[in-house]
Amino acid sequence: MEALKITGLSKIFGSGRLEVRALEDVSLSIAAGDLVALMGPSGSGKTTLLLCVSLILEPTAGTVVFDGDTIYQDGWTGFDVRRLRREKIGFIFQTSNLIPFLTARENVLLPQDLVGVKGEVAENRAEELLEYMEVAERADYLPPLLSGGEQQRVAIARALANRPRLILADEPTASLDTARGKRVMDLLKKVARENQTAVIAVTHDARMIEGFDRVYHLKDGRLNNSNNHG
Ligand SMILES: Nc1ncnc2c1ncn2[C@@H]1O[C@H](COP(=O)(O)OP(=O)(O)O)[C@@H](O)[C@H]1O
Ligand SMILES: [Mg+2]
Repeated sequence: MEALKITGLSKIFGSGRLEVRALEDVSLSIAAGDLVALMGPSGSGKTTLLLCVSLILEPTAGTVVFDGDTIYQDGWTGFDVRRLRREKIGFIFQTSNLIPFLTARENVLLPQDLVGVKGEVAENRAEELLEYMEVAERADYLPPLLSGGEQQRVAIARALANRPRLILADEPTASLDTARGKRVMDLLKKVARENQTAVIAVTHDARMIEGFDRVYHLKDGRLNNSNNHG
C-alpha cells in the first residue's frame, strides 16, 4: 500500500501583495520502502512540502492520504494529527536535531516515552537502534560532544524509534562532508529497504542520491519527477 499520496497540494503564505505561492498543484505518491529524493533551488518549496506532508503545516488546498487514511482534503478531516505525527512519522533536520542536554540514548528514548513505551522495552529498542546506526559506543554521550555525522545517525535512530511509516529528512547531509554525508544517506537507504519505511530526503547534492528510487525536482513550488535509474 502507499504510505503517502498527495494530490493537487498547494500552499500559499500570506495574502494580497505579500502572497507567496510556495507549492502549486503538487502530486506524488510513495510506497512503503520507497526511497525518494527531493531536490530544487533554495526557496523552491522543499521544506514547505515536507512540513505539509508531515502534518505540521496546514496546506491551502489539495489532498493528503497517509497510510490509506485521508488526513487532509481542502481542510483537516478530523484525524488525530498530533498522534499520527508521534506514532507514524519520523523527522530528521539539517542541524540541531538532538536535545543537547539528553544523552544519545535518552534522545532515542524520548519519542517512545511520548507514546507510552517505557522501561526495558524502550531501553532495548534504543540500544538496538543505536547499534543499527553504528553509534552504540556513543550511547551515553551528550550530542554536542559527537561529530556531525554521529549526531545525524543518532537523529535517524530517534526518528525510527516508534517504527514510523514515513521518514522525512530535510537536508540531513548539508552540514557534513561528502564521505559522512554518504554514510548517512546509505543508512537512510538501509532503513527504507529493511523496515519498509518510506523515506523522503531533501538534498542539494546529486552525489548523495545514488541508489534512490526516484528524484523529484521542485522549481517555484512545482514538481517534475524523474527516475533515478542511470
Ligand atoms: N512561514 C512562511 N511565511 C511566508 N513565506 C514563507 C514561509 N515559509 C516559507 N515561505 C516562502 O515559501 C517559499 C518556499 O520556501 P521553502 O519551502 O523554505 O523553500 P526551500 O526549502 O526549497 O528552500 C519561499 O519563497 C519562502 O520564502
Ligand atoms: Mg528548506
